[in-house]
Amino acid sequence: MQHTEIIKVLRTEPSLHEIMVRGWVRSFRSNRFIALNDGSTIHNLQCVVDFENFEESLLKKITVGAAIEVVGHLVESQGQGQAVEIQVSKIKILGEADPEEVKRTILSPKRHSMEFLREQAHLRVRTNTFGAVMRLRSKLAFAIHEYFQKNGFYYMHAPIITGSDAEGAGEMFRVSALDPKNPPLDENGNIDYKEDFFEKETNLTVSGQLEAETYAMGLGKVYTFGPTFRAENSNTSRHLAEFWMIEPEVAFCDLDSNMDLAEDFIKYVIQFALDNCQDDLEFLENRLLDEEKNKPQAERNEMSLREKLRFVLENNFKRVSYTEAIELLKRSKPNQKKKFKYIIEEWGADLQSEHERYLVEKHFNCPVILFDYPANIKSFYMRLNDDGKTVRAMDVLFPGIGEIVGGSQREERYEVLKQKMEVMGIPQDELYWYLDLRKFGTAVHSGFGLGFERLVQFVTGMSNIRDVIPYPRTPGNAEF
Ligand code: 4AD
Ligand code: MG
Repeated sequence: MQHTEIIKVLRTEPSLHEIMVRGWVRSFRSNRFIALNDGSTIHNLQCVVDFENFEESLLKKITVGAAIEVVGHLVESQGQGQAVEIQVSKIKILGEADPEEVKRTILSPKRHSMEFLREQAHLRVRTNTFGAVMRLRSKLAFAIHEYFQKNGFYYMHAPIITGSDAEGAGEMFRVSALDPKNPPLDENGNIDYKEDFFEKETNLTVSGQLEAETYAMGLGKVYTFGPTFRAENSNTSRHLAEFWMIEPEVAFCDLDSNMDLAEDFIKYVIQFALDNCQDDLEFLENRLLDEEKNKPQAERNEMSLREKLRFVLENNFKRVSYTEAIELLKRSKPNQKKKFKYIIEEWGADLQSEHERYLVEKHFNCPVILFDYPANIKSFYMRLNDDGKTVRAMDVLFPGIGEIVGGSQREERYEVLKQKMEVMGIPQDELYWYLDLRKFGTAVHSGFGLGFERLVQFVTGMSNIRDVIPYPRTPGNAEF
């Protein structure tokens, strides 16, 4: 007999045919009711045991966390909370879980803090919250591929090990096969990377953009979806050292079309979650409502999780230039009353997350796309505007998250790019191939990067980014 997934069982009509299910015990009440979960859905299957018909020694092994196999037939449930349940005829213990040991873990049936769950990240997917988050994460990844594939984009695999710094920010993890205790040195006493595996300095990629640009210039429309790495020492609820990024890149596309693409794409993916992940979203929504009960009224969200998602679908993202935003911020209450940590004094200031959140959550009250930033606070590859001081950059800002997307129209003019690289100290010998692209049939093109974990955070309502990726990597933390 094959076992059936619980998600399918719960959609099945009662019948006298026996079925088999396998899963992990969530609870065993009154020596009679087993709540079984196999990960296929947030819902447990109730398995009803007539304990008179089973050995005491077997019943003792039906403990929280144990893996079991159950055979029985599906009946209409007598109790509340489920339509069907299994009337058990056979039980097999597949893997025991010692109750004394379980007590010390997050599997024990009580409330655990998110911090404690992180310490046992190898077990946390067995909790309702992480099961729901990880199923959603998987569905969202699928929706992303579906969106691009349906719209004529090709999936491009950018290299993970690179010799260049795509963002020019120097926040890279080195990749080396040299003996750290005894590295070869050059005549100046510096480590000689010519002796290293790749015969040059290499690092983990911070972004697949530059390579994606080269492919957009041949395939037209491409996207990457892969891990990216940043050695920035940011200990926040929105930063990871290893995160997944989606980077579409489109030939013959300017910044306005790039904004349209970002908005359409994000809305598609959120709609997909609403359509396909109802049970998990409902659970996460209730979880948030529960959490909010302990907060003062003023700090509670006005919208439930799904209301917030629908709100994003139903409203246009507000498009605002950096210059307009600075004017707004300068005049804003928190700026005038010196409530911001960083007071906005003049045009040119870099926006901190407090400013972004003010714009999105207080002023506009909807997702915002900021564009045309000062050239000197943005990356070297962004297209210079005719004013000579701003670039065709865009950031999409989301409530509760801040920046979810960063992108731009790219500088397609060889001379302008070359000069910009000189001024900003970007090594041209390393990026000769990127410059080359502007010599052979250059064209207007644009793209952006969406931080996948920030999207998952938004859709699931999880407040810390460490709780939307299976094994988070952050400063001082590469456990598991
Ligand atoms: O704004 P960023 O740095 O842009 C780029 O990397 C461009 N090359 C993208 C492009 O145009 N193709 O990063 C893009 C997005 C951010 O908006 C944010 O959502 C996410 O990636 N991100 C991070 N997510 C988690 N942890 C970090 N440390 C992140 N850094 C950026
Ligand atoms: Mg950015």
